Amino acid sequence: MIIVKLGGSVFSDKKGKAENFREKVVRSIAREIGEFYPDEEFIVVHGGGSFGHPEAKKYGIRDGLLGLSGESLFWRKKGFSLTHHAMLRASMKIVEAFIGEGLPAVSVSSSSVFLMDSNKVAYGDVEPVRKLIETGFIPVLFGDVAVDLARGVDILSGDQIVTYLTKLFRPRKVVFLMSVDGIYDGKPGEGTLLFEIPSGEIDGLIERLKKLSGPDGDVTGGIINKLREAKEIARFSEVWFVNGLVPGRLSGAIKGDGFGTRIVP
Ligand code: IPE
Repeated sequence: MIIVKLGGSVFSDKKGKAENFREKVVRSIAREIGEFYPDEEFIVVHGGGSFGHPEAKKYGIRDGLLGLSGESLFWRKKGFSLTHHAMLRASMKIVEAFIGEGLPAVSVSSSSVFLMDSNKVAYGDVEPVRKLIETGFIPVLFGDVAVDLARGVDILSGDQIVTYLTKLFRPRKVVFLMSVDGIYDGKPGEGTLLFEIPSGEIDGLIERLKKLSGPDGDVTGGIINKLREAKEIARFSEVWFVNGLVPGRLSGAIKGDGFGTRIVP
């Protein structure tokens, strides 16, 4: 089994118009998966990109429901529904592109599968996902809003989902598709591209990257959280970070001679 994380910056331009979608890119990725499916089982997890992130931010979903009442409580709950809806639209487009390329992809709403507790996955009802795979489908999950037992609601990232599924399903490979060539010792797309990162060196890299982050901590484009997840995932599976915008990079990672960053034990 291979788990593919389709980053939001791959299937859409995060800085572009709301809900812009790169259909050609997604179709090309689907074709690369088609080179290996059905001999290989796949789970796809996609991010929010220009779909989920703007709504999540607008309605402050990360701030949860604690202390809210009346109008402000209703407003945040409405934001939860709208963010989920935006993610359903993203998932529909991705699954349509996969079906168009002959893959039996099936969208699975992460908010119907996972419960969170203080921003961590506390529970996942993954039996339907397991059965979908056993029956020959390609389940497509996505970063989503989710009920959080401590905070009311929260955002569950695609990367957190990948970590959880990796622990359960033990794929032989996890491939993160991003909009740059891999992990850099510096800002994404700048500095030195790292072809191999021993998992024992991830903490040191995180410390170096933290120093580059501005006050909003976002200069590194969420790469620090991604590396934290990767360190956990690497305990159970081979991990690759490759450029999903360049045809052939995903299949290269699947074959094992790809261009990008590989996390080595
Ligand atoms: C975010 O998922 C989901 C929502 C905003 C609802 P990710 O954090 O995995 O998304 P990307 O890949 O960074 O866009």
